[in-house]
Amino acid sequence: MTPDAVVSLEAVSKTYATGAAEVHALRGVTLRIDRGEYVAVIGPSGSGKSTLMNILGCLDVATSGRYKLNGVDVEDLSETELAAVRNTHIGFVFQQFNLLPTLSAWRNVELPLVYAGVGRAERRERAQQALGRVGLAERVDHRPSELSGGQQQRVAIARALVTDPALILADEPTGNLDSRSSEDVMALLDELHASGRTIVLITHDLEVAAAAGRSVTVRDGELVGAAAPLVGFRA
Ligand SMILES: Nc1ncnc2c1ncn2[C@@H]1O[C@H](COP(=O)(O)OP(=O)(O)OP(=O)(O)O)[C@@H](O)[C@H]1O
Ligand SMILES: [Mg+2]
Repeated sequence: MTPDAVVSLEAVSKTYATGAAEVHALRGVTLRIDRGEYVAVIGPSGSGKSTLMNILGCLDVATSGRYKLNGVDVEDLSETELAAVRNTHIGFVFQQFNLLPTLSAWRNVELPLVYAGVGRAERRERAQQALGRVGLAERVDHRPSELSGGQQQRVAIARALVTDPALILADEPTGNLDSRSSEDVMALLDELHASGRTIVLITHDLEVAAAAGRSVTVRDGELVGAAAPLVGFRA
C-alpha cells in the first residue's frame, strides 16, 4: 500500500517581477511529502525556502507547475476556497510567533476555529486542550506580553494544532528563541510527529534540521541533494 501524499509539487516555479528585473525564486521544484513524514527544508539565505513555504501554505501561488495538497489541485481554487484550505488543512508556525497582542492565549488559539464556524463552547474546550498539549494549561488567560518567547511559540504551536490540520508548516520556528526554548519547541515537534502529524520544518540551521526524518536542500531555487537522484552521474 502506498501512503497518501499530503504534498505533491510538480515542476513548480515562482518568478517575482520587480521593476525591470525578474527573480527566479523557485525553478522547477518537484517534491512529494507523505502523511506522517517530518521533512526539513534547508538552504542558504535567499535560496527560496520561504517562497516554497508560502506556496505550500497557499499564501502565494506558483507561476507555473502543479501543487496538490491532500489530493486537491490548489490552482483550481478561488481566493475564498484557498482561505478555507489555509484555515482548515494547514497549521502555521512562524519565526515571529504572530500572536495577537490584545488576546489571551486561549483566545489566540481558538481563532482558526472562529473562522471555521465552530461553536463557542467547543472552541474554548479545544483551545484549552491544545494549550494543555503544549504544556501551557496554567497560562491560558495570559496575554502574549505576559509569556516568555518560548511560551509564545508554544501558544503558536497550539494554534497551529487546534484545527487538526493535514500539514504543519514551521518557518524558522526557533529563530527567535534561546537554546533552552528552542529545545522545548523541537521536542514538541518531535512529539507531534510521533503522534502521526505531517510536518515541514524550514530552517538554515543544520542542527535543527537533524531532528527531521528527511531533509531536502534548496539552492538558488532548485532542490538539490536527497530529493534529486544523480541520474546519469558517473564518477
Ligand atoms: N515578494 C518578493 N518580490 C521579489 N522578490 C522576492 C520576493 N520574495 C522573495 N524574493 C526573492 O526571492 C528569492 C528567495 O527568497 P526567499 O525569501 O524565499 O529566501 P529564503 O531561502 O527564505 O531566505 P532566508 O533564509 O533569508 O529567509 C530571494 O532572491 C528574494 O530576494
Ligand atoms: Mg526565509
